[in-house]
Amino acid sequence: MLGNFSYCNPTRLYFGEKALERLGGELDQYGSKVLLAYGSGSIKKSGLYDQILEILQAHEKEVIELPGIMPNPTVEKLYEGCELARAHDVDLILAVGGGSVCDYAKALSVSAWCEEDPWDKYYLRMEDVDNRILPVGCVLTMAGTGSEMNGGAVITNHEQKLKIGHVFRDNVFPKFAILNPKLTYTLPKYQMVAGCYDIMSHLMEQYFSGTDDNTSDYIMEGLMKSLIHSSRIAAENPEDYEARSNIMWIATWALNTLVAKGKSTDWMVHMIGQSVGAYTNATHGMTLSAVSMAYYRHICPAGLAKFARFARNVWEIEAADKTVEELAEAGLQAMEDWMKELGLVLHLKELGVTEDMIDGIAEGSFILTGGYKTLDRAEIAEILRESM
Ligand code: NZQ
Ligand code: ZN
Repeated sequence: MLGNFSYCNPTRLYFGEKALERLGGELDQYGSKVLLAYGSGSIKKSGLYDQILEILQAHEKEVIELPGIMPNPTVEKLYEGCELARAHDVDLILAVGGGSVCDYAKALSVSAWCEEDPWDKYYLRMEDVDNRILPVGCVLTMAGTGSEMNGGAVITNHEQKLKIGHVFRDNVFPKFAILNPKLTYTLPKYQMVAGCYDIMSHLMEQYFSGTDDNTSDYIMEGLMKSLIHSSRIAAENPEDYEARSNIMWIATWALNTLVAKGKSTDWMVHMIGQSVGAYTNATHGMTLSAVSMAYYRHICPAGLAKFARFARNVWEIEAADKTVEELAEAGLQAMEDWMKELGLVLHLKELGVTEDMIDGIAEGSFILTGGYKTLDRAEIAEILRESM
């Protein structure tokens, strides 16, 4: 049964090959000082940086550059951005990159004018924003996180060995996002498939929960089927526009808050994966793929009917002569086969996890209660060992 909810998604999207043409019109709506945030150089190599600068200049913007936003952005980098944004009193943060740059821009938008330590306030104490919020716009270069249309902002504190996501309210969502699937063509295959698995994981985190007849589950089954189909095509031919555009659009829908409305959600794979990330700084999607099979096999008996439905409706497995347990396992096996086919990481060792990290990773995993089984730390450690 759908619970009570309110729904508003204020992000304006521009999608398609010509989407960047709409950037100038958006820029005109903000003041003259633009903080341009980007990563470690992929946008310079692809030529996107030059295109963006040209548009910024044509619209008479003063550009304050903030390069070097790393994958899994750190709290130190956040402090650096706060100083820059305040010193120049910027009017807009323009994020050009993947989920890390978009997340970072949102974290900065609420931190720049925060009078306290933003790590303590937003990440340790999980408090709401009560100061000025800078507007954010995104030009997305990687499909996966959904960050372009949500309030998530994940920050890593290596010293404290914590990677934490704050899901801010819709006043922090990007004001606009430019989504041109062609901008994702230059992604290395490792990142592309990691992004695909991140999308799959977002859907599964929201699907494997609840026993009701929820419309969101039907939507998610469709999104998962389209993702599986398109990811196979894109893995073979990265420049297949139809596949890349489907993947980009599914990524947005998988985590723009719509499918979670009115239903319970799990998110334990992300909690464990984020803790793995805090210890290893590994690629987000791969931290999820490495722990997923052990996690889902562990909780499957507690949510058997849904796992059987997943097998039937997503992986199109014939129920025929199978017991419900066999059907559920056949679905998970089909998923594992697909993951192998894409070349996803299935073992934590490959991400640099060593046995002596396991207790710390389990300790750093936040325990959520929305899924089919509430885990204790010993179970998390067991899942991590099985994932090695
Ligand atoms: O640094 P650059 O040069 O930009 O290179 C990046 C980076 O090395 C590269 N890249 C991106 N677009 C490219 C490209 N290289 C060539 N061509 C392109 N078109 O790819 C690498 C990874 O980029 P990154 O932004 O880190 O990846 P992703 O989009 O997966 O973002 C990961 C971050 O998002 C967080 C993760 O925890 C992680 O910190 N998440 C955010 C969420 C949200 N906002 O709701 C939810 C997710 O579950 C996730 O936790
Ligand atoms: Zn994710």
